[in-house]
Amino acid sequence: AITRHYTFNIRLQNVTRLCHTKSLVAVNGKFPGPPIVAREGDRVVVKVVNHVQYNVSIHWHGIRQLQSQWSDGPAYITQCPIQTGQRYVYNFTIIGQRGTLWWHAHISWLRATVHGPIILLPKLNVPYPFAKPYKEVPIIFGEWWNNDTEAVISQALQTGGGPNVSDAYTINGLPGPLYNCSQNETFKLKVKPGKTYLLRLINAALNDELFFSIANHSLTVVEADALYVKPFKTNILLITPGQTTNVLLKTKRQHPNARFLMEARPYFTGQGTFDNTATAGILEYVSSSSSSSSNSSKLPVLVKPTLPAINDTAYAANFSSKFRSLANAQFPANVPKTVDKKIFFTVGLGSNPCPKNQTCQGPNGTKFAASINNISFVLPKTAILQSYFSRKSNGVYTTDFPSTPLIPFNYTGTPPNNTMVINGTKLEVVPFNASVELVLQDTSILGAESHPLHLHGHNFFVVGQGFGNFDPNKDPANYNLVDPVERNTVAVPSGGWVAIRFFADNPGVWFMHCHIEVHLSWGLKMAWIVLDGNLPNQKIPPPPLDLPKC
Ligand code: C2O
Repeated sequence: AITRHYTFNIRLQNVTRLCHTKSLVAVNGKFPGPPIVAREGDRVVVKVVNHVQYNVSIHWHGIRQLQSQWSDGPAYITQCPIQTGQRYVYNFTIIGQRGTLWWHAHISWLRATVHGPIILLPKLNVPYPFAKPYKEVPIIFGEWWNNDTEAVISQALQTGGGPNVSDAYTINGLPGPLYNCSQNETFKLKVKPGKTYLLRLINAALNDELFFSIANHSLTVVEADALYVKPFKTNILLITPGQTTNVLLKTKRQHPNARFLMEARPYFTGQGTFDNTATAGILEYVSSSSSSSSNSSKLPVLVKPTLPAINDTAYAANFSSKFRSLANAQFPANVPKTVDKKIFFTVGLGSNPCPKNQTCQGPNGTKFAASINNISFVLPKTAILQSYFSRKSNGVYTTDFPSTPLIPFNYTGTPPNNTMVINGTKLEVVPFNASVELVLQDTSILGAESHPLHLHGHNFFVVGQGFGNFDPNKDPANYNLVDPVERNTVAVPSGGWVAIRFFADNPGVWFMHCHIEVHLSWGLKMAWIVLDGNLPNQKIPPPPLDLPKC
């Protein structure tokens, strides 16, 4: 194992898409940002230097951060932000993970432009549990606003409504040929016939789950969130914000007389404004003889894929049920068989009274809010991990997160009259190594919507999911405790529930939130305190000396 050093200079960068040039916050001048590449067992050291007038913080999405809690990155949870002109060194080791993850800014909506891949290779001379691919290609889905993203967020939060939908979805930062004024901004994947390519898919979009397909090619899913899964074939993938999926693409044996569109567009069941446009890239065969293909006067025909309807929840549920842990001798699935702590959380939207001097776009002139068990989480002005570590919690947070929803009701029936939520900085406390079962129920208040929930510092097993109300007497009988998929982000299905289990084996303060940025802003988030264990490596280490101050 070695140490890999990176420097991230955060600066403004002029970028042009859809014939609009804007200055955006970028890392080392790149949009999307540069990849972090490491092998399992390596140490990664990233010096982040903030040259912009915004506060910045970087999260290494999905990295366990065992014994490196101070490097997790969510602003006001594990650290104060890195202020203008300041720097902070993130320092963590890759333990027991290989596959694709990603990094992104974790403050305000900066992650719209500040994100990039994390590529985790197996240890040297350890093969993949599938045939070695000919080439590996990261594919990041994102969104593009012609407007400044900070303006988009402040507009959304001030009106208490939703954000303006983005002007385009993107593949590796490029909207592609289906948008006006974007012909030259198209991602092209040039392939040879008869080879296997490993595509590392990352959904970095702010607010949309995405369907993805490549015309006339099926894909074999082999990894999810940097954990191997039992391989399965599919023509269409669904990937929620925060998730990563590795797929194998086998190219045709014969050089085809066609080019193939790859397309991504949203899966969305909520109310209000949505965008049904698609980003596209082109899969293009290059022949080894190099004689053909370069003749641009007669480009081969372009074949389009077929994607499900924008609200095809049946497809979404069926697709997510196909994921299984590899669960073999080399990569066993350590599923908690017994449970120390059972928790039930409702997740969904609600509303609050509209503040004076504002016009709000929620129902009956209220202001939209989002909550877990009717608590809308408020970020404190200082970092929770720092307060917790110094045992000075006074005023920063409380540890009384409600174990049941404040407004219980039939989640699939008529919504309650009272959709109000309570603001608070409430945390859930669990002992070290406790086995936790968490049922996440979509409330469907103000419309059934899928919520991709992400837990920091841990992976969890998805042991069950279903539609309607979770039934504690019946549903657990159908849990998969043998080979459930293990991951760090799972969609709570629209109008349904999902059950996850994990060992709280990582002491610290860990954020959990909906990875749809607008829901995160509205308060669909909370944090866990995992208490220290008895051994020295079961305690939070002291903070690094350069930890930013608020
Ligand atoms: Cu991908 Cu809390 O983040």
